[in-house]
This record gives sequence, C-alpha cells and structure tokens, in this order.
Amino acid sequence: MDAIRIRGGAPLRGSVRISGAKNAALPILCATLLSDGGSRLRNVPALRDIQTTAALLRFLGRDVAVAAPEVSVAPGSDVRPEAPYELVKQMRASVLVLGPLVARFGRAKVSLPGGCAIGARPIDQHLKGLEAMGCRIRLEHGYVLAEGPGRGGRLQGAEVCFDIPTVTGTENLMMAAALAKGRSTLVNCAREPEVEELGRVLNKMGAQVDGAGTDVIHVVGSDRGALAPFDHAIIPDRIEAGTYMVAAAIVDGSDVVIEGAELSDMEALIVKLRAAGVEVASDGQNVRVRRAGPLRAVNVTTAPHPGFPTDMQAQFLVLMCLARGESVITETIFEHRFQHVPELQRMGATVALRGNTAVVQGVEALHGASVMATDLRASASLVIAGLVATDETEVRRVYHIDRGYEQIEQKLGRLGARIERVKGADA
Ligand code: EPZ
Repeated sequence: MDAIRIRGGAPLRGSVRISGAKNAALPILCATLLSDGGSRLRNVPALRDIQTTAALLRFLGRDVAVAAPEVSVAPGSDVRPEAPYELVKQMRASVLVLGPLVARFGRAKVSLPGGCAIGARPIDQHLKGLEAMGCRIRLEHGYVLAEGPGRGGRLQGAEVCFDIPTVTGTENLMMAAALAKGRSTLVNCAREPEVEELGRVLNKMGAQVDGAGTDVIHVVGSDRGALAPFDHAIIPDRIEAGTYMVAAAIVDGSDVVIEGAELSDMEALIVKLRAAGVEVASDGQNVRVRRAGPLRAVNVTTAPHPGFPTDMQAQFLVLMCLARGESVITETIFEHRFQHVPELQRMGATVALRGNTAVVQGVEALHGASVMATDLRASASLVIAGLVATDETEVRRVYHIDRGYEQIEQKLGRLGARIERVKGADA
C-alpha cells in the first residue's frame, strides 16, 4: 500500500484546477440504467470510486468505457439486476443502483452496504420510499430483494416524507420515480448541489423533475418504459475545492487560485474561512485564497446543505488546531467522524472529544509524524496537517484518498508543496 510523505512549511502558491464532482458522477452513472441508449458523461475525475461504479455497471450487463475525464455507458447484454456484496462492500454508493434497477426491470437484488468507518449509515429511508411506491422489500442473507407491485410490475408514484434529509436516499427515489406511474412528491429532501445535478440529468433524459436542490421535489414518471440517453458534463467538486481552500489557508504566506469552483455551492465554508481571518476573494469561476497573519478560532457545526458540509469538517478542524484560542467543532451528520483526531494529537494538536463535539485549543505548531488514514476526508485532513507540520509527515493507507481526490500529490506539488507518494511504503 502506498503512503504519502510531506515535508511541511512551504507556502502554497499558484493555481489548481478542480476536477468534476465524485458525488455527482456516481448517481448519474447509476442513472444510465434507466435508459436503453448509450450515454456519455464528461468532466469525470479519475478516481477509484468511478472504476468501482464502472465495474458494477459491467456486472449488471452494461458496456462501460472509462477514459477520464469521459465515461461512456452503452447497453450490453441483458441486465442481471443484481449488485453483489463483493462490489457493494468497496463503495456504499453502490446502493444507488437499487432505485433505477427496480424502476426499470421490476426487481433488484442489492447487497446491503453494511457499516462504515464514519457511522452506521442505514438505508431505511431508501427502502421506506420504495415501499411507498408499491415495492415489496425483503432483507435476506445481507441483501435487499426488491420487487415491483404484483410480482415485478411498474412502480407507482407516491408521496414520501424523509425522516432525515438523505443525499443518496433522495437520489435513489428521484431515479425510481422517473419511471414510476404518475406523480411522486418527495418531502424533506437533501438539497445538496449533487442532488440538483442529478435532477438536471434526469430532465435531459426525458423525466419531469421539479424542485431538485430544494426540500420538496416533484417527479412525473415517464410512460415510455425507459428514459433517453444523455451527454453531460458534470459540475466541479465543491469538496475537493474546499479541501484546496483549506490547504491554501494552513501555511502562512500562501496565495492560491482555485480554478473552476462553483462558489455558490460553498458559501458556508467561505464564511467560516473569512471568520478565521483567511482572505477569500472570488473572480468569476475562480477563487483566490490568501493567508496573511494569525488564524482566529471559529466554531463550526456540520449540517445538511446549505449548512457547513460534514465532508469539510476534518479539514477545517486541522485549521483550527493552529488558530488562536478555542474552537468548538460539532458533527451532527455522522456519529464516528472524528477518527482523524487521535492522529492529529500524535502531531501535537490539543483536541478534547466530548460526544459529537471536538474542543480544539490552538497550538503554535504541529510536528511531523507517521499517521494513519481511516476514511476519505480524514486522510485529506492528515495531508493538510502534513503541509504545515515541522519536519516530515507520512500518511499511511492513502488508498482512502484515491477514492475521492484526483492526483492530490501532483496538484499540491505544482503549488509548491514538498510532497511525494511512496509506493508500497505502507507494508
Ligand atoms: C452522501 O452520503 C455523500 N456520499 C457523503 O460523502 C456525505 O458525507 C453525505 O452524503 C452527507 O453529506 C455520496 O454522495 C456518494 P446521507 P449518504 O444519506 O447519502 C442518515 C464523501 O466523503 N440516514 O445524506 O450516504 C445517515 O446515517 C462521502 O464523499 C439514515 O438514518 O449520506 C446520516 O446520519 C462520505 N437513513 C444522515 O442520514 C437512511 O436511509 C445523512 O446521510 C439514510 C441516511
């Protein structure tokens, strides 16, 4: 397994281009199952999760060509509506084939995703919504067995109120409703930009989706049995952009232009960075981040969009480790999303964990150490800590980071970071 080694302290300078959004690409690739034509997705990042989704679609019978930044999906042999544990265990988002499969083929067998490093992450809301559409759901041997009404018939439009805004839950039901009979109303939906993006693509495919990006979505299902194929370029990755903004803020004297970021998707983060004393200026699709002077402590509470994204919590917490004063970081979305803290404490951070809250006392400096990544965003936070720490930091288990960050060491290296990937270092 690879590791990433960083010699900290070098201010970052220059510009970095943001890749397409992983969390938009995954549901849109699953939406190709709703169509019987060949679709093309552009601006797709070269990530392990994209490869896993491609492998899953191939297993389901699709012809998939991945040539980042383009992915083409064409009908291959007959679809076998089954997503095996071997593939689903690699990536929870595989559950996003459930809605399209049962809507298009009347039945589906999808492995339950199981637990995850950051929380239990149940899919009860996905299943509840499909049942409201007339689906018969059984859980057997670790699999969800879903069948359309009357042994594999067409789903029926329905009203569904989510008990909690869920991103992939909203996306799964939007896709199911796109081929259901009649009108569906989804209430208390997730409003993430990636949900809105899926709505755009489903409308391109001939569905009628209104309100994606708001908390109430209306979908009128198409009666044609399948949707049209699409050709679409996806939105930039706001979490990748946010990660580079924090990386630009961590070393005093840095001055970085983030190219191709959608600022309107990142307002909560920008407000918090400015409150911490970081200069954030926008010019069109670019944002300039400059750090000159001490960081101020800022409290953050994660929340569904447009609140502060949980996927930026770990990165922002590192910044607060070097701020003057005490900051309180509260994680409200996932119950185990502070696993980066013990690793940061090994680097000299002063953080006290109390339930879903981290109380951070700013310190003068972090010190290089060997640290272990536990999940995607925690690994990004450890790389950011390495950029500012004295001496050398070695981040192990970086396979986590390859799931969601395209060429992170090359991109940071071009900004002046002293960073390298060491193959097989993490034996
Ligand atoms: C999506 O996960 C993202 N993944 C996550 O990004 C992100 O952290 C999360 O949304 C929150 O923004 C993708 O889009 C592929 P949720 P998702 O369902 O959809 C509970 C990353 O780093 N819940 O919105 O799985 C759940 O346990 C990843 O890129 C239920 O209780 O998250 C959590 O507490 C990590 N029942 C909360 O809702 C359900 O049926 C929000 O989860 C569904 C969810």
